[in-house]
Amino acid sequence: MKILTKAVIPAAGLGTRFLPITKSMPKEMMPVVHKPVIHYVVEEAYHSGITDILIITGKEKRAIEDYFDMENGLIPNKYLSELDSMLKKLNIYYVRQKGIRGLGDAIAHAEAFVADDSFAVLLGDTITQPPCLKELIQIYKKLHCTVIAVEKVPPEMICNYGIISTSEDANCESFVIDDLIEKPGVDEAPSDLAILGSYILPPTIFKYLKQTVPDKNGEIQLTDALKLLAKNERIVGHIYSGRRYDIGNKLDWLKSNIELSLVDPEIGKEIRAFLGGHFDD
Ligand code: UTP
Repeated sequence: MKILTKAVIPAAGLGTRFLPITKSMPKEMMPVVHKPVIHYVVEEAYHSGITDILIITGKEKRAIEDYFDMENGLIPNKYLSELDSMLKKLNIYYVRQKGIRGLGDAIAHAEAFVADDSFAVLLGDTITQPPCLKELIQIYKKLHCTVIAVEKVPPEMICNYGIISTSEDANCESFVIDDLIEKPGVDEAPSDLAILGSYILPPTIFKYLKQTVPDKNGEIQLTDALKLLAKNERIVGHIYSGRRYDIGNKLDWLKSNIELSLVDPEIGKEIRAFLGGHFDD
């Protein structure tokens, strides 16, 4: 059994919820305390044992490639030095998504990179603390199958996510997923367990992506390809109970800056004093 060394990070999305900021900068470069969002995502892969990363990019995403270049001319600080030492041990590749046709289509661009290996997928705009991928890899090492992170969401949020169904006890470390449905209405949803954007996928996913019919917006949904895969191969779910920030959503981006700066060794004390002062008023 090969160990998991490859990750794909889709980062080509338009970031319309952040307009006008995303007119000229990728949302994956939005700063969270000391670093851009995608730095956290690459770090999560690196700390989980990944050595080869393919980032799916698109229009107005050049800043991502520039960010992950090794910089020789700059005076290093702690964060730049940490980034450079991580980059020395990683191979990062890029491919441009031809048109923005959904997450499934973005991942289809990784077929040549992935070849015959299983691989991780991490969204370029999502931070998990503690790292969700480490938990998925623990399960993958035991079961050698597709592993998907899910979390419980309130009823009013169900229509925004891919939702899974299972006949097993979802509170176990892992459970078999019977079916998946993309953005169901609350009445048709088989559970309140939503796919949160961290996956370990098999190379056979590309076959199912090719069979997947675009949705009403012309997008190829990864959830629809996984639905086909679930009919032939085992998929297990794992409830992630850490903190997830979807930075594509403005409120989550602000929360990430507040919560992560509160515990930051460099500025946490001052932020706590600052915010405490405000609440005292
Ligand atoms: P999102 O749906 O959150 O990204 O995709 P978006 O399309 O930029 O969202 P809006 O415009 O604010 O509504 C989750 C992740 O998948 C990538 C995005 O870049 C993001 O990291 N993605 C999405 C792609 O790479 N290609 C796509 O066609 C869609």
